[in-house]
Amino acid sequence: MTAERITFIGGGNMASSLIGGLIADGYDAQTLTVSEPDSVKREALAGRFGVRTCADNLAALVGAGTAVLCVKPQVARQVCRDIAGAVARETPLLISIMAGITEASIQAWIGHPVAVVRTMPNTPAMIQSGAIAMHASPQVDSEQHNRAETIMRACGLARWVADEALVDVATAVSGSGPAYFFLLMEAMEQAGIDLGLEPEDARLLTIQTALGAARMAIESDDPPERLRERVTSPGGTTEQALSVLDEGGFAPLVERAIGAARQRAVEISRILAEEP
Ligand SMILES: NC(=O)c1ccc[n+]([C@@H]2O[C@H](COP(=O)([O-])OP(=O)(O)OC[C@H]3O[C@@H](n4cnc5c(N)ncnc54)[C@H](OP(=O)(O)O)[C@@H]3O)[C@@H](O)[C@H]2O)c1
Repeated sequence: MTAERITFIGGGNMASSLIGGLIADGYDAQTLTVSEPDSVKREALAGRFGVRTCADNLAALVGAGTAVLCVKPQVARQVCRDIAGAVARETPLLISIMAGITEASIQAWIGHPVAVVRTMPNTPAMIQSGAIAMHASPQVDSEQHNRAETIMRACGLARWVADEALVDVATAVSGSGPAYFFLLMEAMEQAGIDLGLEPEDARLLTIQTALGAARMAIESDDPPERLRERVTSPGGTTEQALSVLDEGGFAPLVERAIGAARQRAVEISRILAEEP
């Protein structure tokens, strides 16, 4: 087992994104192996990144220090059971990006309490701009902890949560979060069009505003609340708009929406753990 060797089980969208990020960060492509059943995807990954590919999960794990589980949640159980022997032999750190699959499920399917880091990325991870929540099982040592963080940082911001249950909260906030911002963008764009802007102007002005606001929020030492107050002059246009949003119950509505998403994340996790 070599700590530097990373094997990806599943070579789809998220694996490609992580691999792209790792290579951009200076990882040697020859230390990365992808196991993927689809030969077209294997050839595409090898051609694009120069990584090693194979069709056999067990062969891919030989010598791996880290295995990143990048398959769909629906096949997680089968894949974990298939690789159990190789995991027992090679003892890699397992990093799961599979939505809704708990550390306990992975350990039960593998058959012993392996070191697992459970992560919850979001779609912008595909362009290395993700927000990724991470949780480590008690078996993860400090070197593995750092290794997992370095790998996941290749596709965005990585934040550890103290309790695995908080992964469901992160799923509701950042996992589903891009859709909330897209919805807001859609509504702003439509309002601009309805009030007379050319569709292309409405779209670009909205998107650039979202990007600019996010960049200000991330680069500023002030919280969003202060940034909002600073653009809200008394008696001005922003104040008018915000008072309409407030009357409509914007903040409690968002709170309810995120609560509902978290509840659904909990239910999906339970269903995936119980499925035969
Ligand atoms: N996309 C996101 O934004 C996002 C966000 C958070 C979490 N995730 C999680 O990321 C994981 C991967 O998502 P994705 O969007 O990358 O899915 P994807 O593009 O479908 O990738 C999964 C890959 O796994 C391959 N595969 C299927 N069975 C396999 C097996 N037995 N052994 C090895 N590989 C196998 C699939 O090949 P075939 O296509 O040939 O079946 C496919 O190429 C999911 O668990 C998802 O919950 C994704």
